[in-house]
Amino acid sequence: MSKSSLPRRVIILRGTMASGKSHLERILKEGEAHLLNVPALEEALECGYQFVHIDAVDVCLAAKQPLQSLACQGAEVLIVDACIHAAAVAEAFAECEVEQVVLVAPRHIIKARRRLRYISEGIAPAAVDAWPNYVRWDAEYPGANYVAECAVPDVQTTWVNTADYPWVRIGEGAVVWTILPTFSWPVISEDPKDLYQQVLRVGGAWYGNHGRIPFEEGRMDAVLPERCDGMTVMDVGGSEGGFCFEAVNRGAAYAMDLEIRQPQRDLAIRIRNSMYQPVSVADINLDDHDLPTLTMEHSERRRWDMILMLNILHRVKDPKAVLQNALDVSNYVVVEAPYCMGDAPRKHVEGSLYPETWHFPPVWMKTVAEGGMFAVESIETGPYAPEQRLIYKLRRVL
Ligand SMILES: C[S@@+](CC[C@H](N)C(=O)[O-])C[C@H]1O[C@@H](n2cnc3c(N)ncnc32)[C@H](O)[C@@H]1O
Repeated sequence: MSKSSLPRRVIILRGTMASGKSHLERILKEGEAHLLNVPALEEALECGYQFVHIDAVDVCLAAKQPLQSLACQGAEVLIVDACIHAAAVAEAFAECEVEQVVLVAPRHIIKARRRLRYISEGIAPAAVDAWPNYVRWDAEYPGANYVAECAVPDVQTTWVNTADYPWVRIGEGAVVWTILPTFSWPVISEDPKDLYQQVLRVGGAWYGNHGRIPFEEGRMDAVLPERCDGMTVMDVGGSEGGFCFEAVNRGAAYAMDLEIRQPQRDLAIRIRNSMYQPVSVADINLDDHDLPTLTMEHSERRRWDMILMLNILHRVKDPKAVLQNALDVSNYVVVEAPYCMGDAPRKHVEGSLYPETWHFPPVWMKTVAEGGMFAVESIETGPYAPEQRLIYKLRRVL
């Protein structure tokens, strides 16, 4: 192969099962650059890339073909899911700029993604922990020697933490404590009255502003199913993640807290890491981007089992578009939102606590739900006064 037909740059992609490789393929395919804060991968999106699966590498090696033949689409950047063949790929493409990108996440997040995979395949949530393949892969989690194990001579390695959106680079020195965080009871040094939107129940214990417990417990019972076994849950505008942690208390397999405020995200991540919660945090502005979808093996999309939109819809620029987006990527949506009479959302409703925000009539909620092939299962009041907030439960009609 002539030098001119080789890619300019080769990215050797590494990571254990459920570290995010299939997910990366989907992110690149759909051009979701806002989910990545990793220059090497963003450059691949900009310049044009070819993604090569590990199966193709194995076939190439078994057929004794040169690995350079994998680069067949003339793309500037070749991304090779290399697994144990990283050194061979580096050697084959020595004439190109070669960089290794290793995807990592806290061990409990990887574990949660793997559990989810088996639940998606139909294994009962309670049976996954004893499922033979799940147990067998336990030996394949990255451990304390991961940096040394992944090293490829003369190739620079970029480490990427895929636990949260956007994915970020981490330094080599941070790899071990990222993948193996130390368990501790969360120390919450900030004044909870300043920080908390909610009081949080994590692992069954309450943290934060205890005066809010009756109110928040009432909301949790009004919003969440009694059991969430095996479910995937996204809380949109989820603040410090209180409803994600509570969904996990009730058995959820994986939850995502989508939130624009950094102190709230930081606290959610700190609690997630210190208490080994299967919760990811997404820094996404709903006014600019769509809701993230779940990706399973080989880029297959999966709907969220439940999306929560609690006291958020009235604050976005285009509530209809945001609600329709939730209906597109989920099977069940719970909305808590300010109420008004009439046919269409409006602002400046008399007597409202937040007159400058949107208020929604139930008939509008029903029309949007039905347009997305959802039915209004119930309209309820939680602990808020009904004239301030109503809770809508919208279920997909199959
Ligand atoms: C009123 S709070 C509701 C918090 C929580 N869902 C609850 O009901 O207790 C609204 C939350 O949505 C977040 N938020 C507001 N606008 C947003 C946007 N455009 N994108 C993402 N999050 C947003 C805010 O930072 C805030 O935490």
